[in-house]
Amino acid sequence: MSASAITLNPYDEVPFPSQPLPQTLPDRLAAIGTLFGMTPPPADRCRVLELGSATGGNLLPMAEHFPDSHFVGVDYARAQVQAAERAASLLNLRNVELRHADINTLDDSLGKFDYIVCHGVYSWVSDDLQRKILELIQHSLTPQGIAYVSYNTNPGWYLRLMLREMMFDFAPAGATAVSRLARGRALLEFFAKAGERQKTSYGELLKLEAESILKLPDGYIYHEYYESDNRPLYFHEFVEHAQAANLQYLGEAAVATMFASNFGAKAEEHLKGLCPDLISTEQHLDILRTRGFRQTLLCLPDVPLRRHLLPDRIESLYFYGRVAPQNPNLDLKSRELETFKAPNGVGLSTPAPGLKAALCLLNDAWPRAFSFPELLAAVSERLGGPSTAELPASVREGLGQNLIQCIATGLLEINSRPDAFTTRISDQPQTSRLARAEARSGSRVTNRRNEIVDLDDGTRNVLIYLDGHRDRASLLGELMAAVDRGEISILKDGIPATSGEAVRTTLQSTLDEALAKLASNALLVD
Ligand SMILES: C[S@@+](CC[C@H](N)C(=O)[O-])C[C@H]1O[C@@H](n2cnc3c(N)ncnc32)[C@H](O)[C@@H]1O
Repeated sequence: MSASAITLNPYDEVPFPSQPLPQTLPDRLAAIGTLFGMTPPPADRCRVLELGSATGGNLLPMAEHFPDSHFVGVDYARAQVQAAERAASLLNLRNVELRHADINTLDDSLGKFDYIVCHGVYSWVSDDLQRKILELIQHSLTPQGIAYVSYNTNPGWYLRLMLREMMFDFAPAGATAVSRLARGRALLEFFAKAGERQKTSYGELLKLEAESILKLPDGYIYHEYYESDNRPLYFHEFVEHAQAANLQYLGEAAVATMFASNFGAKAEEHLKGLCPDLISTEQHLDILRTRGFRQTLLCLPDVPLRRHLLPDRIESLYFYGRVAPQNPNLDLKSRELETFKAPNGVGLSTPAPGLKAALCLLNDAWPRAFSFPELLAAVSERLGGPSTAELPASVREGLGQNLIQCIATGLLEINSRPDAFTTRISDQPQTSRLARAEARSGSRVTNRRNEIVDLDDGTRNVLIYLDGHRDRASLLGELMAAVDRGEISILKDGIPATSGEAVRTTLQSTLDEALAKLASNALLVD
């Protein structure tokens, strides 16, 4: 479709702040497919389609991660596609195709894809376009391909819909996006304050909801609260749509949300009696957590899936997690119950020495991921046991079962590929071209797990020079020159200092600290 055939749409009027989405990376999707019995295509040699790719905030980092894979992005907002094209050319990406087109007009000529991502589109478009998206996925997926579709869900959106309707009606007809947003924010502030004054459970809920919307950027609020289409649906309705399009429910990108056991053994048992199947269980879980958003994975209907998770499924995967032991003096070899906690509050208690050792190893090595054989060997070594070859099969299986439990609780993450970053600080450290470009214009950069990292000034000043061609001495020279040019200011006794040993010493420690932070945030590459 020619660009001129499409007129201005709401996303040209107010662009959507498109961001990297770690959960849509093909290697993450492949890991979940593997967990449930699929043999998904390798992420480093695959074809990925993103429907509604906006300014490329998600597609371009993926393309940089996987230079031998091919990425196609489609969006009908001309200004956004043009911004994505500029960014792709700045990053010299040769494996990306950006199409300015309406999804409604797409056909088989795009070819087949191993991974299809459609984030933030489905519940915001018409019934016809929803059908088209699922049809396109059905026709375009390769036999073991995986599609990711996110959408707003009920019951979580009921409260938000009430606020959305108020915000919508509160804006005068014909108002500009800017004035609608300003009035919407004023209304939310009123609800947040009034909710707090009520001192009731409902008041508290209203306050929390209004405050959480207020924290969002304008572009997000506009498309979520002022678009004419925002029709959250129940999970079971989405699955009915998928089945009508001849697609199969695979699971969720947030895998841990699929396990009723996270609500306790009693709730799990109760749900087993109450729910005849997986879809019904998932629907009940949505009600338990008032879920407002889903990131559902689909595959073709004839793919055999294994819902019962067995250790053999995870032996080809990689594991990582920040799982701090709560007892600083824990004895790995004892069978005392020890508790581990992740920063998101998820915790797990175990007496198993093998699991305790595995979690300590992963925590110490954060952000590094370990393959299963690597982890098994390291656990055995830490416990002073025999080499992996001599380990009885039961030990291997036991660790596998324990790791499955950690995946189910959300304590550990999985991936199908080794890390795309290094934690080693080399003589001539390097960051990705994307991170360097981002750091030149702001403090938020994308790391090699497709997460956003907010940098402090010192780290940002160092990052922009890490192109793999400068050693420490030359990096220090660049920082000194930046001080001379007035780009970096260093205060000594409250007065700006520009030269001398004190400046050199300060910059030296800035450099050391920055490199350590970049290494621990998955921002260094080989
Ligand atoms: C809420 S944004 C999500 C953007 C991106 N996927 C993300 O999550 O950052 C929805 C995107 O879908 C695009 N879109 C909506 N309807 C479309 C259609 N019919 N054809 C092509 N793009 C469409 C919009 O232009 C917009 O960029």
